[in-house]
Amino acid sequence: MLTTPASTMRFPRLLLTGAGGNLGQVLRPRLKAYCDVLRVSHRRELEPATAGEEVQLASLEDKDQMMALLDGVSAVVHMGGVSTEQPWDPILAGNIVGMVNLYEAARLKGVKRIVFASSNHVTGFYRQDEVVNTRMPPKPDGFYGLSKAFGEDLAQLYWDR
Ligand SMILES: NC(=O)c1ccc[n+]([C@@H]2O[C@H](COP(=O)([O-])OP(=O)(O)OC[C@H]3O[C@@H](n4cnc5c(N)ncnc54)[C@H](O)[C@@H]3O)[C@@H](O)[C@H]2O)c1
Repeated sequence: MLTTPASTMRFPRLLLTGAGGNLGQVLRPRLKAYCDVLRVSHRRELEPATAGEEVQLASLEDKDQMMALLDGVSAVVHMGGVSTEQPWDPILAGNIVGMVNLYEAARLKGVKRIVFASSNHVTGFYRQDEVVNTRMPPKPDGFYGLSKAFGEDLAQLYWDR
């Protein structure tokens, strides 16, 4: 993703969700070259904002917080949510309800671009020696993979509409 030169892609305000997570912490310093302001979000405390940043806490399952989070944003790099196999309740909150809140807030706020991180667990029940392609149906290997399959379908729905 970050092989695109910053000079060819620049946003007035870019939102990074899950900024306190593994990938979010790696992306946070690197995304600054792609925007005037980087809005970093997490559900808990984050490192304080540095120059060109703003920190805004939000839980994905909180519709009002997500509406406020998307306000004034040009594009989103979405790294927030449950990233491993877990019980259904946190997956429902972060990856199902949270995804709907994110995409619906983006629609209402006129945000046209979201980068969504899916997972190989969407196709986790294909045999490892089987070559899969994008026309084959998902075969999730757990609640996490199932929630990522939902995320892919949700993104497609908002794009098509
Ligand atoms: N790291 C990988 O190898 C990998 C591989 C495939 C896909 N992904 C996807 O990339 C994204 C980022 O991965 P990561 O490894 O940085 O995950 P991570 O778990 O380190 O970070 C995700 C962050 O989201 C936060 N979060 C969870 N539920 C939330 C909620 N309801 N509201 C607000 N925040 C919430 C967590 O606190 C966490 O800090 C995830 O969507 C993950 O599924 C990661």
